[in-house]
Amino acid sequence: MCISFSSLTFSFSSNFSAVDYLRLFPIDPPEFSFSGARAHLIVYSFVKSRKMIQINTVSQSKLSQPKKNQSKKDWMQKSSSQMTCRICSSDTSLLLDLGASPPANSLKESADKFQESYSLVTDICDKCGNVQLRYCLNEEALYTDYFYVTPSSTTLSKHYQYLQDFLKKNDFISRNSFVLEIGSNVGNFLDFIKPQVAQVLGIDPAANICQLASQRGIKTICDFFDYQASVKIKEEFGRPNAIVTRHCFAHNANPHAILDGVTNLIDETGVLVIENAYLLNTIKNNEFDQIYHEHMFYYSIRSMQHLLSLHGMHLVDLLMSPIHGGSIVFVATKKSSAHAISPTVHKYMEAESLALTPSAYADFVENTFEIKKTLSTLVADLIAKDKKIYTYGATAKGNTLLNFVGLTSHEIQYCVDSTASKQGRYLPKSNIQIISEEEAQQNPPDYFLLTAWNYKDEIIRKVRQVGNHTSKFIVPVPSIHIL
Ligand code: TMP
Repeated sequence: MCISFSSLTFSFSSNFSAVDYLRLFPIDPPEFSFSGARAHLIVYSFVKSRKMIQINTVSQSKLSQPKKNQSKKDWMQKSSSQMTCRICSSDTSLLLDLGASPPANSLKESADKFQESYSLVTDICDKCGNVQLRYCLNEEALYTDYFYVTPSSTTLSKHYQYLQDFLKKNDFISRNSFVLEIGSNVGNFLDFIKPQVAQVLGIDPAANICQLASQRGIKTICDFFDYQASVKIKEEFGRPNAIVTRHCFAHNANPHAILDGVTNLIDETGVLVIENAYLLNTIKNNEFDQIYHEHMFYYSIRSMQHLLSLHGMHLVDLLMSPIHGGSIVFVATKKSSAHAISPTVHKYMEAESLALTPSAYADFVENTFEIKKTLSTLVADLIAKDKKIYTYGATAKGNTLLNFVGLTSHEIQYCVDSTASKQGRYLPKSNIQIISEEEAQQNPPDYFLLTAWNYKDEIIRKVRQVGNHTSKFIVPVPSIHIL
């Protein structure tokens, strides 16, 4: 069975039908519509029903199921008892409550479409220091109208080179390596490193994404990665020398399931490379807008080391990168591996324990509310002076920022984004319409609120290069400033 939607075509595998889909993901009848189902199709269409049941169980296990005549809001309220650590099961305490937002990558087709908001609360584990979301949404809530697309960016290409150089220099990959990437998306990173290694393989649950990757010559299995997937990969392709996962390890409420697959797949010589936003950067740079429902964990070296140790693994190296506001690359092996532990691990761990103190967390919370107050006042002042404001970047973090501060289409006329599939849509809750960079160039604002601040230099350069020397940029972190 095939369904065409816009330029994308979704196919159901023979053992999984649309009827199965609806049975497995019962949606409140008044809200169900074909467009509501579309994103599920994007994510799940080739995934076998066995996996669907399993994934659904994992992510909902800690949430009570909605009962008849009960709204999703009630359902989420009922699930508020998840205050134990998803890594070590110890008690957690409140870190920051950002109120309620719809899933941050849910872009709307029309401004008046209703979207449910869900609590965005982070807690910290009293024992292992893990920072996690209190409420982890299931895939149905998270991926309805999901529109994340990796942008093409010079900043990202430079980062791939930096990461590849690090992996090669430290012998984590070589000419003979077989590299598996979990959450490989359209295969950008694998395509980049392919000439440097013997074999690459991706695994990603989104059918349309896998198709695009395969079309460009990056073999991609369409599935979620867990123990069962690892068994199939080992049978068909053998053991990878390196497993890489970039900015998606924290998107799973159950990291133990991923590590069960990893430890089954790699041997004593194999490495696991996890790239993720780094908690220390988030806290020190007041990047509270990194908090959204997809990001279920905010990993530190301490919490990652603890998680790995529960699976007989440990860190052997670390790499810091400025990408996405400050990321960390964790390199891990089995504890039985002969890989030497780089002195970098100890060095960064020491620095982290000195920096991630109770007062640093308290400052982070205080500064978050300060940013809210300052931005809200600044925008009100600019509007009083008849200034025109757009946001730049239809990003997930931008939606956390806008919804936390309470900015909407009443204050912000447009959001500018280079991604064609986002243009014409509306940001969740704030209802701001997305326009292209070309449209913004024809009718520039007085101020851009830089919601893609991780591409600050690239975006400002681009705007100036096309002849706009008048618009100013409001940068929200680490504190509100104007460029
Ligand atoms: P991300 O930070 O989640 O990767 O999203 C960045 C967004 O910013 C993405 O939707 C594309 C957009 N963007 C532009 O509109 N122009 C640009 O020059 C760059 C680099 C990104």
